[in-house]
Amino acid sequence: MPQQQLVIAGGNGFLGQELARYFRQLGYRVVVLGRGASAGPDYQRWDGRTLGPWAAALEGADALINLAGRTVDCRYTAANKHEIMASRTESTRVLGAAVAACTVPPRVWLNSSTATIYADTPGDQPANTEAAGIIGEGFSVEVAQAWEAAFAACPAPATRKVALRTAIVLGRDGGAFPVMARLARRGLGSPHGNGRQWMSWLHITDFCRAVEFLLMKPDAAGAFNLCAPQPVPNHTFMALLSHELRPWLRLPQPQWLLEIGAFVLRTETELILKSRKVYPQRLLELGFAFEFPTCETAVRDLLSPS
Ligand SMILES: NC(=O)c1ccc[n+]([C@@H]2O[C@H](COP(=O)([O-])OP(=O)(O)OC[C@H]3O[C@@H](n4cnc5c(N)ncnc54)[C@H](OP(=O)(O)O)[C@@H]3O)[C@@H](O)[C@H]2O)c1
Repeated sequence: MPQQQLVIAGGNGFLGQELARYFRQLGYRVVVLGRGASAGPDYQRWDGRTLGPWAAALEGADALINLAGRTVDCRYTAANKHEIMASRTESTRVLGAAVAACTVPPRVWLNSSTATIYADTPGDQPANTEAAGIIGEGFSVEVAQAWEAAFAACPAPATRKVALRTAIVLGRDGGAFPVMARLARRGLGSPHGNGRQWMSWLHITDFCRAVEFLLMKPDAAGAFNLCAPQPVPNHTFMALLSHELRPWLRLPQPQWLLEIGAFVLRTETELILKSRKVYPQRLLELGFAFEFPTCETAVRDLLSPS
C-alpha cells in the first residue's frame, strides 16, 4: 500500500508539531506548510495568502489539515485584530484555491475553527452542542464565524470538509497548560476572577486521536466540537493544579488584578475569563472514546514525569 500523505498548513506551531509527530509514528508522510525558510523535503514554504509551488503538495494527498492563524494571545489592537482575522480567512481561501486546482484533490480537509465560537455560557446553562449551541458575539466570535464561512465557501466537491471547533488543548510542550502550571508553581494557582467561568479543554493525545478519528470516518463532515465531555469551572481546574503542584503560596487573582496583568503581559483576560461550556456531541455519537475524559486524569498525566 502506498504511503499516506498528510499536509499540515501552519504545522510549525504547538498543535501542528504534535500532529506531525503523531501521524509520522503511524507511518504517514507529513508535509508542513510554513512561512519560514525551507527545512527539508517535507517542508514547503508559503505565505498563507498566495498560490505558489507549495500547492503541488496537495495533489493526490490523503488529507489536508489547516491550523494557520496568528496567535490570539496578544492585545486586541486594530493591527493585531486585522492579522488574527486575515491569517485565518486568507489561508483558508488560498488553500481552497489550491484544492480546486488539484487534478486529484485531498480526500478530506480538516480546517481549524474554535470552540470560542459559542456564547459565554455561565452557571448551569446547558453546554453548547453542535446542533443546539448558541453562537456568541464579539471579536473572537466574529473571527470564528468568518473562518468557518471562508471554509464553507471553498468549492471542493470531491473533498470531505470538517471544521474543528477546538477547545483549549492541554499539552506538555506548548499552548496554555505549561504557562498555567508555571504560574501556579509561583503562587498564581488560585481561581481566575470568581472562578465560576467554565473551561472546556482537551488533552493533546485526545486532540491527535480525534483528528485521526475524523480523518478515518467517511461520514464525518461539517462542524465538530473537539473538547472533553466534562468541562470544569475554572476554580476546579485551578484547585486540581494546586493539588498536584502543592505551591507554598496561593495569591488571589481578582478580575481587576488580571486586567492589569493582561495589560502588562500584552494579552487579553477574555482568554481566561470567558465561560466556555462545550460538549462533543457529534464525536461521541460517532463512537469516539476519550483516553482522558476527566480533567483529573489529564492534569495528572501532563504533570507526571514523561
Ligand atoms: N492551541 C489551542 O488550544 C487551540 C484551541 C482552539 C483553536 N486553536 C487554533 O488552532 C490553530 C493552531 O493552534 P496552535 O496552538 O498550534 O497555534 P500556534 O502554535 O500559534 O501555531 C499557529 C501556526 O500558524 C502559522 N501562522 C501564524 N500567523 C500566520 C499568518 N499570518 N499566515 C499564515 N500562517 C500563520 C504559524 O506558522 P509559521 O509561522 O510557521 O508560518 C504557526 O505555526 C490556530 O489557528 C488556533 O487558533 C488552537
